Amino acid sequence: MKIGVYPGTFDPITHGHTDIIRRSLRVFDKVIVAVALSPTKRPMFDLAERVDMVRLVTKELAHVDVEAFQGLLVDFVRDRGARAVIRGLRAISDFEYEFQMALVNRKLAEGFETVFLTPSEEYTYLTSSIIKEVASLGGRLDAFVHPLVGARLFGRRGTKVS
Ligand code: COA
Repeated sequence: MKIGVYPGTFDPITHGHTDIIRRSLRVFDKVIVAVALSPTKRPMFDLAERVDMVRLVTKELAHVDVEAFQGLLVDFVRDRGARAVIRGLRAISDFEYEFQMALVNRKLAEGFETVFLTPSEEYTYLTSSIIKEVASLGGRLDAFVHPLVGARLFGRRGTKVS
């Protein structure tokens, strides 16, 4: 079975992330969405909330598992017997950082592969931070996130967006 791991902070999951998960299912038999603790990013939602939102948004998709992880991505990937890591490449600006991560991960674990998928062009401008900013200013979120995620973002209005 070809297993792919899609890692990220998912603070929160957006339509752009869901688009990548759907595309990954055309390539892999099973996709594990790995929600990172990412303490240095000081996420708005704690790890359990982020995992919960990813589960809610992907519950209709077969062959998707959602797990929290901390520590090195290469260890998580090896422990799950995965074939590769999936990353979305939205624009040229993503390239340098993604290339660096892919090469560091390959140095850390021989045979580690990263597969890059291109999201639908309607999501190439999205980031979780920009959506948190829109939410904090009372903007409409339906074009960016699942309604359940939007409701949670609105529940956090007044929370500082870092
Ligand atoms: N659609 C919409 N938004 C997207 C997206 C897509 N397809 N792909 C990425 N983004 C957004 C993310 O939401 C994030 O937004 P934010 O910075 O406003 O929060 C931003 O683009 C950057 O995303 P990304 O580069 O994927 O960072 P991340 O924090 O989501 O994930 C990890 C990074 C968790 C994969 C990485 O830090 C990691 O592997 N950590 C584990 C520790 C480790 O092994 N470190 C060594 C790695 S070399």
